[in-house]
Amino acid sequence: MSQPLKLGVAGLGTVGAGLVQLLHEHGARMAAALGRKIEIVGVSARQRQKNRGLALEGIAFFEAAERLAVEPTIEVFVELIGGEEGVARAAVEAALKAGKHVVTANKALLAKHGTELARLAEAHGVALNFEAAVAGGIPVIKTLREALAGNQIRRVYGILNGTCNYILTQMQEEHRAFAEVLAEAQHKGYAEADPTFDIGGFDTAHKLALLTSLAFGTEVALDQIHVEGIEGISQADIEAADDLGYRIKLLGVALLTDSGIEQRVHPAMVPKHSAIAEVSGVTNCIAIDGDYVGNVLLAGPGAGAKATASAVAADILDIARGGAGAPFGVPAARLKPYRRARLGQHQGAYYVRLSVFDRPGAMASIAGRMGERGVSLESIVQRRPRWALPGIDARPKPGAPTAVILITHETTEEAIRAALKAIHGDGNVSEPPQMIRIEPL
Ligand SMILES: NC(=O)c1ccc[n+]([C@@H]2O[C@H](COP(=O)([O-])OP(=O)(O)OC[C@H]3O[C@@H](n4cnc5c(N)ncnc54)[C@H](OP(=O)(O)O)[C@@H]3O)[C@@H](O)[C@H]2O)c1
Repeated sequence: MSQPLKLGVAGLGTVGAGLVQLLHEHGARMAAALGRKIEIVGVSARQRQKNRGLALEGIAFFEAAERLAVEPTIEVFVELIGGEEGVARAAVEAALKAGKHVVTANKALLAKHGTELARLAEAHGVALNFEAAVAGGIPVIKTLREALAGNQIRRVYGILNGTCNYILTQMQEEHRAFAEVLAEAQHKGYAEADPTFDIGGFDTAHKLALLTSLAFGTEVALDQIHVEGIEGISQADIEAADDLGYRIKLLGVALLTDSGIEQRVHPAMVPKHSAIAEVSGVTNCIAIDGDYVGNVLLAGPGAGAKATASAVAADILDIARGGAGAPFGVPAARLKPYRRARLGQHQGAYYVRLSVFDRPGAMASIAGRMGERGVSLESIVQRRPRWALPGIDARPKPGAPTAVILITHETTEEAIRAALKAIHGDGNVSEPPQMIRIEPL
């Protein structure tokens, strides 16, 4: 047996406790396979006395995570505290500067400071591994960094937030309103008391920023992501989508175009019989389009103690085997500056829901506004809808608003936005138009 690999683990919450348990349960098997033991020699958490139900006898406790990070006996610092600044950032930087390998599950830290931390890791010849930071247990970082490295990646997209997917799935399956499903998810502990970070799309954006860098070899560019959440999705949209053969999913999409990279997080319509449409509940999935491999789909648990610990353990095992590749697949010095494609130039088809006053000339005016911007329509549905909006009579009276669903042919975002602005301005609709992008699969 070689010398044991000694770890310092900062953070003993959901993921930290999961890791301690995994190493306890699988330590002997892993040691036999590696020819060396993996040993936790120090831990840090906020509350020293808290009963965590973990076997921590003989392991030193550090009040300050930054102290554990530079402890001479450890070779690997495992950061499972969370947060883009504060202790997590200070401890990770200290560990890297002290020549310790770092394993972290902290998407917020990497999405904000990933490029500079990768530079720091490489300058000190150590690993910065973060498999658990994106989609929990799904091995997508390794897949992009290693398994698909022979491909030119054209697009990476996926369902990266379990809370949003749970809410959309419940709305779909149980025909319930967004607010009602969200309240229930909070009650069951699937959604945070302040759900903004999840439902506003920001959590998805953090993960997407990391996938983009890995896929395209660019600097991490969180602030260049177009972000829309799922707050505006109504039961009317879910049911209209169903009738038209689609499901609505919150997607994070990174697309390589001739004019740069599109990074966007927004609700999207996907064909209902596609594999991604069938990913339901809290499950995550990521699809990768590579020029040689074609389309690869990974699906699995995006969070939870065990699934996330599984990813953290894989990162530790890599280090035990002697691997310290570039964090984002290419050396940090060779990460390209991020070049943003204008979203206005985005090409795609769109779903539009209008509540149109039922009066002569209204539809002709709407079609005219679309035509002026060169937007052609694949379908127009105006009938007594099962997706009748609150306040809209299922049997509309002349003059009252009625739900009209339009599906456009491929057009630019600029054109559809301009047409919808004009339609809203004309006063033929009772509320702002709803627009959802259709993601080609
Ligand atoms: N939960 C998941 O399913 C999941 C999935 C993927 C990635 N992640 C990421 O994993 C990280 C940890 O998440 P989590 O869910 O395990 O969080 P958590 O349950 O809230 O645990 C956080 C841990 O950090 C400790 N801590 C807080 N401040 C500290 C400080 N100043 N010094 C030392 N320790 C401190 C806490 O100590 P006390 O226990 O004493 O309060 C706690 O043990 C985050 O970056 C998160 O984004 C989580």
